[in-house]
Amino acid sequence: MIIKSIKLTNFRNHHNYFLECKENTSLILGENGCGKTSVLEAIYILTRGKSFRAVDNEILKRGTDYYRIEIEYVNGEKNIATFDGKNKTFLILDKKTRRLPKKNKYPVVLFLPSDLNLISHSPSRRRDYFDKFFSQLDEKYNQNLLKYEKALKQRNEFLKKEHKKDDIFSWNILLAKYGINLSKLRKNFIQEINIQLTDTYRSIAKNEDQVEINYTSEVESFTESDYLKQLETNYEKDHILGHTSFGVHHDDYLFLFNHKIANGSASRGETRSIILALKFIEADLIYQKLHLKPIVLLDDVFSELDETRRRCLIKNFQDNQVIITSVEDVNN
Ligand SMILES: Nc1ncnc2c1ncn2[C@@H]1O[C@H](COP(=O)(O)OP(=O)(O)OP(=O)(O)O)[C@@H](O)[C@H]1O
Ligand SMILES: [Mg+2]
Repeated sequence: MIIKSIKLTNFRNHHNYFLECKENTSLILGENGCGKTSVLEAIYILTRGKSFRAVDNEILKRGTDYYRIEIEYVNGEKNIATFDGKNKTFLILDKKTRRLPKKNKYPVVLFLPSDLNLISHSPSRRRDYFDKFFSQLDEKYNQNLLKYEKALKQRNEFLKKEHKKDDIFSWNILLAKYGINLSKLRKNFIQEINIQLTDTYRSIAKNEDQVEINYTSEVESFTESDYLKQLETNYEKDHILGHTSFGVHHDDYLFLFNHKIANGSASRGETRSIILALKFIEADLIYQKLHLKPIVLLDDVFSELDETRRRCLIKNFQDNQVIITSVEDVNN
């Protein structure tokens, strides 16, 4: 899908906004706070179903009572999302839905300036990053994740209330089932990324360094019944803590640079090249698995990259539709 134009009404600071997109690279240029990231956010909502940074009430332009996003594609299709202060509605090919249907989602590679700090960020940021990554690649992953998160939330609420120990069992079963599935899928996806990571990194950095991601999980060698047993063993502890202390919600992804922990050993430039490589692989895996060319949204990342890396970024995504935001004119 190639975006032809975007129309926004009451979306953050935009009262009425219109952008005609190019089929290859479009640049949204403007000073801080003029609403550049908001345009990418609107595209993300209509392609992925929800914002990458906020809930709808925060997005609705202050003092107004509805927002509207309209995207027209080159093939003539038009998709609309509206929010009336309470509910969001998608109008896709003249059909109204509350959620963006799976078949109408379109893959996006989003590159935010904060992604450049992924290696030194908290484990929860890294989990969130890879959850979004893998959810786009595989609907099965997405479903397992949603079910795991729901069961975890309910178990934690249960632990805080008056309850009988036996009543927690049904949540344990669900957590063990979805937790094991997630762990296996995470391990496989990281293996797939690792197959390409060093070569892709070298094509950017032009050297012989080695890069790898280590998936670390306390459940890695567990079977579903080991997982279940561990949840039962931890019950007393969890009851006192009021939350679930064991499971895949503690997983992490450790970046290794020449077999050493990258956080602290890789330089700033090397770290940027690793993240760039990760973005390239994300687009490649989307194409391999879904046979779709993702739309690439680059939010203000050019100012963070040197000339060589900028050129590399543009070259790698030359067959994708790319939308770039920037405060200063980028010459490519
Ligand atoms: N709900 C809202 N109603 C009105 N204005 C809002 C709302 N939410 C955010 N804003 C404002 O909208 C503006 C646009 O935000 P956005 O993040 O899109 O800017 P930006 O151009 O990407 O800025 P920067 O270059 O600093 O990243 C900001 O000034 C922000 O304070
Ligand atoms: Mg911005």
